[in-house]
Amino acid sequence: QAEFSLRPRYLAEYIGQAQVKENMKIYIEAAKLRQEALDHVLLYGPPGLGKTTLSNIIANELGVSIRTTSGPAIERPGDLAAILSNLQENDVLFIDEIHRLHRTVEEVLYPAMEDFALDFVIGKGPSARSVRLDLPKFTLIGATTRAGLLSAPLRDRFGVVNRLEFYTEDELAYIVSRTSDLLNVGILGEASREIARRARGTPRIANRLLKRVRDHAQVRGDGIITEQLAREALERIQVDPMGLDAIDHKMLHAMIQSFRGGPVGVDTIAASIGEESQTIEDVYEPYLMQIGFLQRTPRGRIVTHAAYRHLGLPVPEQP
Ligand code: ADE
Repeated sequence: QAEFSLRPRYLAEYIGQAQVKENMKIYIEAAKLRQEALDHVLLYGPPGLGKTTLSNIIANELGVSIRTTSGPAIERPGDLAAILSNLQENDVLFIDEIHRLHRTVEEVLYPAMEDFALDFVIGKGPSARSVRLDLPKFTLIGATTRAGLLSAPLRDRFGVVNRLEFYTEDELAYIVSRTSDLLNVGILGEASREIARRARGTPRIANRLLKRVRDHAQVRGDGIITEQLAREALERIQVDPMGLDAIDHKMLHAMIQSFRGGPVGVDTIAASIGEESQTIEDVYEPYLMQIGFLQRTPRGRIVTHAAYRHLGLPVPEQP
């Protein structure tokens, strides 16, 4: 698919996450020298920062195959047993949304991760006995938006734990230029920066905005993306100069108008704007907190003065 070919395939092409990249490079090199499977890797952080991309790169750099699935897709222990027993030696198994694994499935995963074995109980009552089936050595790469949602025994079984961070504007501008090259679209440096500034630290958003701006450039302009054109296109699709979209605005306005800026619980916010609490926590809050527009307190979420100023609203008086 076209989308996939936009993704970098090697660490050297992957922009940003310098610390993670540097560490992974060494661990991959070492595993290859020893001709062993790489230790299990946990990748966590907000959506769109490159967890899936990085997993594919890791398999590629190791020179092994990758089998991709997700927590909720593995319904029964037998499904996982089938996947595991079909892996080749040193392959990567990528489980996205690993915090959503069923309990019963998770229990099959423990001995698989630790001893590369599946444990079965055969028979019932006094004649029941347990058998152990050896599996090929493999690397589990687990991805999750929040490591806190993982059970402790699962988290403890990952030898490498990497947190992906929001990207800087420079990194995103570079990614936008790279993607433009791949899409064969001309873009001026300042236009790449404008898209980068409004991409909420997230490559997936930067690339999505680029595609919408490209549409605009092809229909309204001469196909070259200028700063002016980028700005117009972004305003049209309601992405403001800080990258906040219509839902961020709806959420902040609801908190200010109905709850005096908080503190207000996330479920209450969710209900008042018709979004899922989970989506607010995983997708919207992390960036609003990162830019200092939202604070999390034990009594709920609070809109900061910086957010009032950004929205052009009067900052509330201190009580
Ligand atoms: N495209 C999306 N994310 C990327 C990244 N981190 N590096 C290079 N290209 C990308």
